[in-house]
Amino acid sequence: MDPVEHDQPHLPAPTIGPVGFAIGVVVILIGLIINPLWISTIGAAVAVIFAFVWARESTAELRGRHVAVEPEVRAAGAAAPAVAAEAAPVHADESERFPRSKFLEASTLGLGAVIGGVVTVPIAGFAVLPAFLGQKRHEVDLGPVTDITEGQWYIATFTTDPSQGETSRRTAFVRNNGSVQSGSAQVPSFTIISNRCAHLGCPVQANGPTGSILGIKDVVETTANGRVTMIPTVPAGFGCPCHGGQYDTEGNRTAGPPVRGLDRYDFEIKNGRLILLSMYSVSQVDGTGAQAKIHKYKLAGPGEHVAGVEQILYPLQPPHH
Ligand code: FES
Repeated sequence: MDPVEHDQPHLPAPTIGPVGFAIGVVVILIGLIINPLWISTIGAAVAVIFAFVWARESTAELRGRHVAVEPEVRAAGAAAPAVAAEAAPVHADESERFPRSKFLEASTLGLGAVIGGVVTVPIAGFAVLPAFLGQKRHEVDLGPVTDITEGQWYIATFTTDPSQGETSRRTAFVRNNGSVQSGSAQVPSFTIISNRCAHLGCPVQANGPTGSILGIKDVVETTANGRVTMIPTVPAGFGCPCHGGQYDTEGNRTAGPPVRGLDRYDFEIKNGRLILLSMYSVSQVDGTGAQAKIHKYKLAGPGEHVAGVEQILYPLQPPHH
C-alpha cells in the first residue's frame, strides 16, 4: 500500500455527467414555464441520461481498480507455496480497493440523488401528468335554437355537471347573431361570454335592464344538465361588483383591474339545440357579433395574462371545469 496516495486529497476527474444533469434540470424548469408537456419531458430525459452517465463515471475508478487488482491476486496465487507469505499484502490491499473517501463520495452522491428524486419527481409529475391525462369534456344543452331570439341577449344559467348539482351552476351571456357565411354555407353564429371576471373571478353582471321589465318571456328548459334558464337582457356592457372591472358587449375590458377580456364558450348546434362546449380565454375582440375577430387562447385563470410578454409569468394552468 502506498501511504503517499492516501495523503493526497481526492480530486474527482472532470466529467460531463454533472454538467449534463444540471442542464437537464434547467431545461425541466424552463419547460415548466414555457411548455410543461414537451420541454420538461425532454429535460427529464436529459437529466436521467446524464444522471446515469454521472453514476457510471463515479464508479468507473472503483471498477477499474477492482479489475487491476484481480491479476495481482492470481499472480500471487501462482507463486505459492514458496511465496505464500508474500500473498498476505493482498488482504491489505482490500482497504485500498474500497478506500473510505470513495465510499463517502458514493454515499453522498447516492443520498443526494435519492433526496433530489423524492423532492422533484412528485412536483414534475403534478406539473406534467395533467397534460397527458386530458380534460373531461363538459357539454351543456341550452335548448332549442329557435327559442333564442335573434339579436337578443340572454343571461343563461345552467349546471355544468349534473352529478355535482347546484355547486356546478354557471352563468353565461348568450346572443344569437343570426347566421354567418362560412365557405359556401351559412352557419349559425352565437356570442357566448362567461360571467367569470378576468380579474379575480367575481360574477360579472349585465349593465342594463333584465327580465320582465323588458316584456320578453324567460326561456326555461329542463335538459340532461338539469334546469336551464335564459333571462332576456339589454346590456350596455358588463360590470363586476367586486373591484369595478368593466367590459363592453363583446367582453373587451374597458375599465378597472381585469387584465384581459371575458372568457367565452365554444358551441355547436346538435339536433337543432345549442350546445356549450369548452371555455377559452380571449385577449380582445375586434368587431362585433357575427363579424367579430376573436383573439382566442387556451383557458387561463382569473388575473392571468394570455398575450404579450406578461403571459410567460403564468406558466402553470391548473385544471379548469
Ligand atoms: S374580480 Fe372583477 S374587478 Fe376584481
